[in-house]
Amino acid sequence: MSAFYREKVLSVRHWTDTLFSFRATRDSGFRFQNGQFAMIGLEVDGRPLMRAYSMASANHEEELEFFSIKVQDGPLTSRLQKIREGDVILVGRKATGTLVADNLLPGDRLLLLSTGTGLAPFASLIKDPDVYERFESIVLVHGCRQVSELAYGEQLVERLRDDELFGALLSEKLVYYPTVTREPFRNRGRITDLITSRQLFNDIGQTPLDIAGDRIMMCGSPAMLEELRVMFEGQGFVEGNSGEPGHFVIEKAFVER
Ligand code: A2P
Repeated sequence: MSAFYREKVLSVRHWTDTLFSFRATRDSGFRFQNGQFAMIGLEVDGRPLMRAYSMASANHEEELEFFSIKVQDGPLTSRLQKIREGDVILVGRKATGTLVADNLLPGDRLLLLSTGTGLAPFASLIKDPDVYERFESIVLVHGCRQVSELAYGEQLVERLRDDELFGALLSEKLVYYPTVTREPFRNRGRITDLITSRQLFNDIGQTPLDIAGDRIMMCGSPAMLEELRVMFEGQGFVEGNSGEPGHFVIEKAFVER
């Protein structure tokens, strides 16, 4: 048995010069928890060229979806960005990752903090009815340099708001907070600063950070993740994992640099 499923690309969408997403078939044997990642890639010169990608689709969906950057000289993404409908991608059989609800202690509010393609695991998690069961409110924060980079997330949330099942859950529980750092936008600034200054909580009209009720998942820029980890630990928050649930969990964005 090969280590990889061979899946067919169903559609590709280019969002900016540096971002694209695509959908592919999903083998019925491929199981994952929402928020997890798998190795995906292409066969290059007869060999698999693989990188870690979070599933942006939820595990109840029939198809797989991924959200990727494009790096012009990146070994994988320079090729992956050229895929078209009908092409074959490789998908590793085993999904893993720390951004799963079971790794968090019970809480009232779930903060999902992401930059760039770090949004992908949260695209999956906000399509998980179990997450809405566990938390009274969910705050999805997506930070990018430019407004154009928000489009994938904006359309995802818009689509879910119109969805028969998720529409009601979203309007009851989900706050979506996109923020931009390098050009004008209604929300501006880095996620770290927005939390420290409490601007985020003021803007959404919710209570400030509180260890008693807040649980946090983070994915994106390594520099941001490190700053947030230090900040949260300084306030007594404990990192969780599959052995022991905690107040927060972290996954690095899987970027080619
Ligand atoms: P900024 O534009 O101020 O650098 P990148 O494309 O470099 O991964 O950045 C994605 C987003 O993450 C940008 O909005 C960027 O803000 C922000 N960012 C980068 N480093 C940090 C950090 N250490 N803390 C918080 N946000 C950061």
